Amino acid sequence: MYTFGLIGYPIKHSLSPWIHESFLASTDVKGSYSIIEIDPAESFSKNMQLLKEKNLNGFNITVPFKQSIIPFLDELDEEAKRIGAVNTVVHKDGKWIGYNTDGKGYVRSLMDKYPALESEKELSLLMIGAGGAARGIYYALLAEGFTNIDITNRTLASAQELTEFKPVSANTNIKTLKDAEETLSDYDVVIQTTSVGMKPHEGTSIMSLDKLKASCIVSDIVYQPIKTRFLTEAESKGALLHFGHTMLLYQAQLAFEIWTNKNIELVELETALRLQLEG
Ligand code: ATR
Repeated sequence: MYTFGLIGYPIKHSLSPWIHESFLASTDVKGSYSIIEIDPAESFSKNMQLLKEKNLNGFNITVPFKQSIIPFLDELDEEAKRIGAVNTVVHKDGKWIGYNTDGKGYVRSLMDKYPALESEKELSLLMIGAGGAARGIYYALLAEGFTNIDITNRTLASAQELTEFKPVSANTNIKTLKDAEETLSDYDVVIQTTSVGMKPHEGTSIMSLDKLKASCIVSDIVYQPIKTRFLTEAESKGALLHFGHTMLLYQAQLAFEIWTNKNIELVELETALRLQLEG
């Protein structure tokens, strides 16, 4: 009997318990997934002590603790180290080992939706945003073999900082949002990683897509609403869409794989999650 959980704050409305309980129900793995809400005003160290006593087999970490967890780990996966944030911990041989499945989960979701990308690693990608999610996605795209990934962000210094661990083989230009809008036709894949367009601000979009190439793949990690204004505008330009809720499923799939060695089939769950999010 496995015991899993999620730490974060606030997490009462998190979709993770639903996703992982669906995973458990679809395999012969017996277990439970609980919500462990931690008040950020309380001592984190004390709470980690209590968490150790629970002896969970694994747990996820969400905001605001993805960085605070790091000093409490016994080992840290290389990718999580580069990203500087952990969203998954496995308890193995008495040790807490930290991973970050967000970026890799995102890339898996993109490649599963558009498998032709597998042989098109030389395409030009544009990533919008330079926050925590962007950092994970950028390094996972590089690890996947993409080499031309430009970054645009409102604050240029954050975009510059994000590239600190990039290999010399990576071609990354940092652009202002205005410059990115002007040169949008240069890109084959555009990935929106900021929270702009998320409910209750669904009327907003981070940039004009006037110059978008018709065959472009356009992705938005926002999943509430599922079809953001950004994606609606991209669709009207003839773009191929990639939706944010799939990242949520794939990062969970990877976490479950780390905990149990089981690879979960996502097709039916994807439909169920979409229907749930669409209300
Ligand atoms: P996360 O960890 O979810 O990625 P984050 O670290 O707070 O969140 O990053 C938020 C990203 O959204 C950043 O790229 C941020 O731009 P800045 O670096 O300039 O702050 C971007 N962002 C958030 N609100 C924005 C807005 N209204 N306009 C433009 N960019 C915005």
